[in-house]
Amino acid sequence: MLSPLADPVKLPCGLVLPNRLSKAAMAERIARDNKPSKNLADAYEQWSRGGWGSILTGNVQVDVNHLGTPFDPALHSEYTGQTDLVAEWKAYADRCQKHGTPAIVQICHPGRQSFRGAGSRGIFGDTLAPSAVPMNLGDGLIERLLACLVWTTPREMSRADIEGVIRQFVDTARLMADAGFSGVEIHGAHGYLIDQFLNSKTNLRTDEYGGTPAKRARFVLEILTEIRKVVPATFCIGIKLNSADHSSATFEETMTQIGLLVDAGIDFMEISGGSYEDPVMMAHRDPQNETSEVNHEPKSKRTAAREAFFLEFAKEVRKRYPGLVLMLTGGFRSRVGAESAIRDGACDLVGIGRPAAVEPGFPLRLLDESIEDEEAVCYLNKAPTPFYARWLPRALIGAGAESSYYACQIQRLAKGLATIAPGLS
Ligand SMILES: Cc1cc2nc3c(=O)[nH]c(=O)nc-3n(C[C@H](O)[C@H](O)[C@H](O)COP(=O)(O)O)c2cc1C
Repeated sequence: MLSPLADPVKLPCGLVLPNRLSKAAMAERIARDNKPSKNLADAYEQWSRGGWGSILTGNVQVDVNHLGTPFDPALHSEYTGQTDLVAEWKAYADRCQKHGTPAIVQICHPGRQSFRGAGSRGIFGDTLAPSAVPMNLGDGLIERLLACLVWTTPREMSRADIEGVIRQFVDTARLMADAGFSGVEIHGAHGYLIDQFLNSKTNLRTDEYGGTPAKRARFVLEILTEIRKVVPATFCIGIKLNSADHSSATFEETMTQIGLLVDAGIDFMEISGGSYEDPVMMAHRDPQNETSEVNHEPKSKRTAAREAFFLEFAKEVRKRYPGLVLMLTGGFRSRVGAESAIRDGACDLVGIGRPAAVEPGFPLRLLDESIEDEEAVCYLNKAPTPFYARWLPRALIGAGAESSYYACQIQRLAKGLATIAPGLS
């Protein structure tokens, strides 16, 4: 029987993804001048021939003053249709889509999570956030010291700031459409600015952008509506959103916000989870030993087929919003696990991150019927932790080690070098 992973998926905008496997967004950390450099395109050409149904780029920041890492690609100034800028991004889009796979650019503003020195605002420059809530890594002395060293207390955004950032999202999306990308994904997860607005812990505003779940969603809804006005109807607009624990107070609030995004006409929604303060999206699961570091999901005996991190939440979203095209990302390592999530109706698209960084052609193996299920896997060991980082908070070390390790693998891809799965060097 043909794998359901091979099914094409049509999005509401009309874009057809040739199969259900999506290369998830991974910040590449190689754009030295924060532009879509040739080495960035070199890495994406490898994914382009990897048999993916869609390719999500690593986050592109909408303001070069506020970066997630110092080497993120970013928008440097207002976009007014500059032809040289379009040509620069078009060269990148063409390489990403060279072999026919649609590429979708993830657009982001890190808000309070922008490190000191990440961005041209200077190490003492303010970060932006809905409210002046500082980063919190824990109550211990080291945790508090680290948070102060790494981040500044954010400045509460004024109305002008909000309008400015909305315009930057719109400009970036329009540039990506003009450059020939197939769509954008608004990064509304992982504790970045949009997530900060959606979340009542980081959004303490009492104006029309804070208070109720609907008011907290206003920022992202305005971004979505304004982008729609300037891109072609066939240009896809998706969003990445964090899941919420079923037993938490925020669960129903998150469902309300998802409903508003559905009503506003989103083309797909990617479900993830976590932030720098609680980086569960970078958890490591060992399917052979049925252990999970992700605390949002009940552990199950059927883990081999239920390897995805946020499966239960995705199923709940599916139940309430059956027409929404859902992508689920985090933990997929095998054909059996990916097929089971599709057959269970948890999602329509399977997002794959870390395995894609070490095996850019992983879908070719997953979709090859001559390969047995046992071989159609990419299990990964934990990324090694550098010795000097061992005194840092545990969750942060693990997540930092994972993202640094796989960013290095992307850099190897860009150079045409063989990648190395962790523990195999
Ligand atoms: C090196 C690296 C960079 C990442 N950068 C991003 C990013 O730019 N945007 C994003 O939404 N998620 C990012 N992630 C998270 C992944 O998209 C994904 O949610 C996470 O790795 C879990 O999926 P996996 O278990 O398949 O790796 C990154 C992950 C890694 C390993």
